[in-house]
Amino acid sequence: MKRIAILASGSGSNAEAIIHYLRQSREAEVVLLLTNRPDAGVRERARRLGVRCDYLPTAELREGSKPLALLAELGVELVVLAGYLVLITEPWLQAYPQRILNIHPALLPEFGGKGMYGHHVHEAVLAAGRTYSGITIHLVDEHYDHGQTLLQAQCPVLAGDSPETLAARIHQLEHRYYPAAVAQYLRLLDER
Ligand code: GRF
Repeated sequence: MKRIAILASGSGSNAEAIIHYLRQSREAEVVLLLTNRPDAGVRERARRLGVRCDYLPTAELREGSKPLALLAELGVELVVLAGYLVLITEPWLQAYPQRILNIHPALLPEFGGKGMYGHHVHEAVLAAGRTYSGITIHLVDEHYDHGQTLLQAQCPVLAGDSPETLAARIHQLEHRYYPAAVAQYLRLLDER
């Protein structure tokens, strides 16, 4: 069974959705959660779900040697970013070429790039007067929110939406599509 690591800086609801999905489909196993925030909500979820969750400081995650040694030791084949706010550096890209996925809460290439995360994204979508937004699941390269797109899905922006109501709608889309996209990408890797 393929082994996956998920990197998360926040609440970890996407991480949880992926763990549940893969436990049911038995296509792969999430063997490790890694976070750069000792107080991240994802740590509590990991405890509840019985998945190992390690904290490492941002500098060590960026530098790469410690986390990558751990991933190699655990036999991790795919890295999934789920609300992870640390730049993926060269050592990661070399160790996992075409094997790091990310989800962005908007329709890239719009509303992406450095500083465009969380509520900043939804505020920008609302300020631009868009009538729809969505999610982008993509491969990670050396630039923020830039690698090849694997999947996009849309949802409406409703009159009276706040960044919070829009974020909630986007989260639903993420939970619906990200776990299946991860599983599908693993199947694709198998066929190569
Ligand atoms: C998601 O909206 C994701 O698109 C973005 O960060 C958020 C993470 O949410 N990259 P959660 O921690 O999975 O609940």
